[in-house]
Amino acid sequence: MTRIFSGIKPTGHLTLGNYLGAVRQWVETDQHRADALFSVVDLHALTVDHDPARVRRLSRQAATLLLAAGLDPALCTLFVQSHVDEHTRLSYLLECTASDGEMRRMIQYKEKSAREKAAGGSVRLSLLTYPVLMAADILAYGADEVPVGDDQAQHVELTRDLAVRFNQRYGQTFTVPRAVLPQVAARVMDLQDPTSKMGKSHAETSGIVYLLDEPDVVRRKVMRAVTDSGSEVVYDREAKPGVTNLLELLAACTDKDPGELAAGYTSYGALKKDTADAVVELLRPLRERHAELCADPAYVDGVLREGARRARELARPTVDAAYRAIGLLPAG
Ligand code: TRP
Repeated sequence: MTRIFSGIKPTGHLTLGNYLGAVRQWVETDQHRADALFSVVDLHALTVDHDPARVRRLSRQAATLLLAAGLDPALCTLFVQSHVDEHTRLSYLLECTASDGEMRRMIQYKEKSAREKAAGGSVRLSLLTYPVLMAADILAYGADEVPVGDDQAQHVELTRDLAVRFNQRYGQTFTVPRAVLPQVAARVMDLQDPTSKMGKSHAETSGIVYLLDEPDVVRRKVMRAVTDSGSEVVYDREAKPGVTNLLELLAACTDKDPGELAAGYTSYGALKKDTADAVVELLRPLRERHAELCADPAYVDGVLREGARRARELARPTVDAAYRAIGLLPAG
């Protein structure tokens, strides 16, 4: 059976972009068709300036929201990365496999470290080594497929290179995984800046719908979305990025075709109103389930405990094999 691994970083509140671009596919497809592991990758949240209490809170919230969105512990394994030591154990071996030069070539590292330096801050060493930890996340489980956004494609490419190199040097140890990118239609853009992705780490939040936003906040954000000059509703990403984003959002919420939806509208206002309603309806059950789960923290704890136990059991043999292959003396 195909094994899938994906992770979500608790650096901000989960957004509609995370849900439509990733989580919904985990829930509706991946957990049914494959042996799937999903992890709240909290160690990755420590690579930039962080507030300990906030990371802790966001980790629990992300796990709770993933359950609320429909991940089913009977079908998949949901766990918190730091609960399973194999990730950091393997990460060190992969640091001994990767080169300094290839790490410095990672686009995200170049961008984030430049931003950090421009702001006068210092760059944590873990920001440089973070893709190696990500490779360890994936390789520890022998994952075949890694569903990720295109911003992570380079890191999965690095993971493949490290797996192949390790296998060549020390003998067959790792499965070589491949990235699975989401369908284009599920890429939700920022409502205030429809040419950039709706991400959770942005400072400016008026264009971002969070999964836990109150319905009136969701409505306000959608109604204030930037649109394009003119007044015709046409599906054209180049000429009308704002309108196109709304059409895609509405299409994703209602399972319709964005091009066909466009034909039914003669004004931006009506499109916005229907999109706002559709997003509110999409999020309603998720919010309700989240509230129920928050009232039962022991249940969430139990799911995470059992998830970590299963994850450990899966990762342990592979990481032990890597320890032996690379030349470490087995402990008695
Ligand atoms: N780096 C990913 C991100 O920023 C999160 C992540 C960490 C991940 N480890 C992973 C994704 C392993 C897929 C597989 O979104």
